[in-house]
Amino acid sequence: MTRRRILIDTDPGHDDAIALLLALASPDEIEVLAVTTVAGNVPLERTTANALKVLELAGRTDVPVVPGSRRPLVKDLFTAEYIHGKTGMDGPELPDPATAPATGHGVDRIVEVLRAEPAGTVTVCTLGPMTNLAAALQRAPDVAPRIARVVAMGGGVFEGGNVTPAAEFNIFVDPHAADVVFRSGVPITLVPLDTTHRCLSTRDRIERFRSLGTRVGQVTAEWLDFFERFDVQKYGSDGGPLHDPCVIAWLIRPALFQGRDCNVTIETASPLTVGMTVTDWWQVTGRPHNAFVTREVDADGYFDLLTERIGRL
Ligand code: RIB
Ligand code: CA
Repeated sequence: MTRRRILIDTDPGHDDAIALLLALASPDEIEVLAVTTVAGNVPLERTTANALKVLELAGRTDVPVVPGSRRPLVKDLFTAEYIHGKTGMDGPELPDPATAPATGHGVDRIVEVLRAEPAGTVTVCTLGPMTNLAAALQRAPDVAPRIARVVAMGGGVFEGGNVTPAAEFNIFVDPHAADVVFRSGVPITLVPLDTTHRCLSTRDRIERFRSLGTRVGQVTAEWLDFFERFDVQKYGSDGGPLHDPCVIAWLIRPALFQGRDCNVTIETASPLTVGMTVTDWWQVTGRPHNAFVTREVDADGYFDLLTERIGRL
C-alpha cells in the first residue's frame, strides 16, 4: 500500500493518545508530518501538553506539536473532563513534557504544510472538534483542493449523539467548523459513533495491552482503565468505545470497515439538534455525496491491529 503522509489534528484525550501511538507505530503505512492541537476534551494548554507527553512516550519528539485554536469558531468551548479527567489523560502518571510545542499556530501550520507538499499527497486526520481545519479552509481556500482526504472521527447516524440525543462531542463542540469542512468539497471519510460504539475496550482487550510487558502497553492499559468508566456506567457496556484510533486504523487497514457514500449535512442553528450530522444513509434527499461514512467494523481485527502496533513501541 502507499505510505500516507498525514497531519493529525487532535484534542488528547485518552483515545486521541492511542490514535497517535497507532500512527507513530506504523511507519510503513503512515508518515506523521505534524500534530496540531485544538481545545476540545480539555482546554488547549492541556491538549497540547498531552500531545507532547504522548510523542515523548513514543520516542518521537521529532514530530512537531503545534498549538491551534483555543475555542470553537462561534460557540463557547465545551469540554469533557467528566470523561477524560482534569488533565485530559487521567490514569497513569506521566511526567510533565520535557519538550516544548513548535512555534507558530496550528492553523498556519496546516496551511503551510498543505501549500508546501505536492497537491493531493497529504491526508488530514481530525480527532477532535474541526476548528483548526475549518479556520485553515477559511483563511486559505486554495488549500482545499490540495488535501487528499479528510478522515474524521465524529458524528452519529443511527447511534444518535453522545452529548445530546442528536450530537456527538466533536461536532457538538464546533458545529460551525464541521459545517465548513463538510461544505468544502474535500473528500471525507467520517467514522461516527455507529462504528466506534462497536469497538469496546473490553476487559480482555485491555489486559492484552497490559500483557505486552512494555511501558507503552502498560500506559495504554491504564488509560483505558480510566477512560471506560463513564461509558460503562452510561451504556452498561463491557468497556468503553475506543473512538479515535479508528481513524488511523481506517488508513492502515480500510478493509476492517464497511460504509457507504452519503450526504452529511451539519445542523448549526436548532437549539434542539445543534451539532447533528444529518446523514442521508438511505439516499432519499438527492443531496450530493460529500462523505464516505463507515458503519460496521471488524472490532476483533481492529484490536488485533492496535495491540500488535502498540507492542512495537
Ligand atoms: O465523541 C468522541 C470524540 O470526542 C473523541 O474524539 C473523543 O476524544 C472526543 O474528542
Ligand atoms: Ca478526540
